[in-house]
Amino acid sequence: MSKPHWRPARASDLAAISAIAARIHPALPERAEVLGEKMRLCPDGCSVLDTDQGIVGYGLAHPWMRYRIPPLDGFLRGLPDGADCLYVHDVAVLPDFRGGVVRAYVAEIETLAGASGITTLALVSVYGTRLLWERMGFRTLTADAELRAKLASYGDGATYMLRELAAR
Ligand SMILES: CC(C)(COP(=O)(O)OP(=O)(O)OC[C@H]1O[C@@H](n2cnc3c(N)ncnc32)[C@H](O)[C@@H]1OP(=O)(O)O)[C@@H](O)C(=O)NCCC(=O)NCCS
Repeated sequence: MSKPHWRPARASDLAAISAIAARIHPALPERAEVLGEKMRLCPDGCSVLDTDQGIVGYGLAHPWMRYRIPPLDGFLRGLPDGADCLYVHDVAVLPDFRGGVVRAYVAEIETLAGASGITTLALVSVYGTRLLWERMGFRTLTADAELRAKLASYGDGATYMLRELAAR
């Protein structure tokens, strides 16, 4: 079996991505069209983990504004002018293919941020993945009431995290 590798996501990958999302996030469902919109708006931020058995994971990210959290299963309707962060919407990998694979995707996102003049990465951590993201340099923001309200659709324990990249 060839080693799983990250490659840019294509529109034709949407069905596989959506199937993995439904399997990994049964409690946080999102419509395929919502995922597909992110791929269309920011193809450079979207990758799949490919193997000779097919796609086993994906990562979706797009330019956004810090402290703004797109509602789960909601359309973005466009990217903001003057985006000041790359927002990692989701990374999910099938259990059999896990083991440190997210790092290479995050490195790609860092490179994309650098090329776009963006120095902050943002995400919402779910399912107690805070430690995983902390190991990758993300820090938890103390959520005020407004941020907590925006996090509500992501379930209990959702945490907004930022990572500052060194300016280049
Ligand atoms: C997030 C994800 C892509 C990371 O994959 P990966 O880079 O291969 O990393 P692993 O799954 O091997 O996890 C790395 C470490 O984080 C820990 N971790 C992962 N998910 C965790 C969770 N839900 N709760 C606690 N710890 C977790 C692992 O135990 C592992 O710890 P170790 O290094 O001490 O063994 C994968 O775990 C996944 O698909 N998870 C489900 C979807 C998800 O939670 N996505 C993130 C949404 S913010």
